[in-house]
Amino acid sequence: MSDENPIIVALDYPNAKQANEFIQRIQGSSCKLKVGLELFIAEGPAFVEQLVVQGHQVFLDLKLHDIPNTVASACRSASSLGVWMMTLHALGGEAMLRAAREEISNSVNAPKLVAVTVLTSMDENELKGVGIDSSAKDMVMKLAEVAMNANIDGMVCSVHEVAAIRKKWGELPLVVTPGIRLQNDRSHDQSRIASPKQAHDLGSSYIVVGRPITQAMNPVEAMNQYLDSWSSSA
Ligand code: C5P
Repeated sequence: MSDENPIIVALDYPNAKQANEFIQRIQGSSCKLKVGLELFIAEGPAFVEQLVVQGHQVFLDLKLHDIPNTVASACRSASSLGVWMMTLHALGGEAMLRAAREEISNSVNAPKLVAVTVLTSMDENELKGVGIDSSAKDMVMKLAEVAMNANIDGMVCSVHEVAAIRKKWGELPLVVTPGIRLQNDRSHDQSRIASPKQAHDLGSSYIVVGRPITQAMNPVEAMNQYLDSWSSSA
């Protein structure tokens, strides 16, 4: 098993001050840090650059979805910020994903590109409402195929789809899974949750964990409990 820390902590904060206070409390940890829309819109690329300069591996989760040229240019900008990984919507289609892949293929330290498949907030009724009649699982597999055809590094999906993805594509894709909780944690608004051990055993590459770590009295201790669960499967 790799020694790499599989935890991506979601920095779901409204401003850099609160995010930095949290980062101070986990100083020395080798987890990755996820910057999503809330923090990015509030603080912009300067905050991302600050994290990179401090030596953090940044997962820029902006879920890009636009015409191929626009998304490719946005990926070039993100690449120049030095982010480690970033997200695009697989629903943008193969041409969009391919344009992004090609745009950064010659960059030094190009970010890993991962495709968001079906948002976990979209159940089958929501999918029907936008004209999609497939089941969520079939849709995830279809969109994962689009991403793989475009040479994308991997995908974001729930733990419940990881086994099917591994069965179809083996070890190749990076699989990033949110919705992770230990048995005694609050589930908050996540409905399809799984433990770090389940995520590991089913084949996740990285787990995204937010509130159970960011809101813990002792975030380092909370993170270690998540790591213990992950590696208890070794
Ligand atoms: O606090 P919690 O662990 O629920 O945070 C999960 C993080 O993962 C949040 O930043 C959320 O936006 C993100 N996420 C998710 N479900 C998805 C994709 C992303 O919860 N399907």
